[in-house]
Amino acid sequence: MPTIVYIEPDGQRKAIQVEAGANVMRTAVGNGVDGIVAECGGAAMCATCHVYVAEEGAELLPPVGEVENEMLESAAAERRDSSRLSCQLNVTSHIETLVVRIPDRQM
Ligand code: FES
Repeated sequence: MPTIVYIEPDGQRKAIQVEAGANVMRTAVGNGVDGIVAECGGAAMCATCHVYVAEEGAELLPPVGEVENEMLESAAAERRDSSRLSCQLNVTSHIETLVVRIPDRQM
């Protein structure tokens, strides 16, 4: 079973076991993870679900899509190479552990 490890803005880690196919944003919201606002509900229209993906597992994610890429430009926190919109990320069975760091602000 894959695990998503969220590092909240205050540095606290929350590890959550998920079924393959679980969405990174929805899992965070459903489990009370701090720092993911997800204002648009997952439509890639708000960039308030911005996360930084750790190297481990990142190569198993699909590349940044065109709309995601545009939205990341308007993210409140600094955009980095590891930036993704968590609503666009689903954990596959090939991923054992996915670590995402949540920035200190989303708006
Ligand atoms: S929830 Fe709005 S872009 Fe991800």
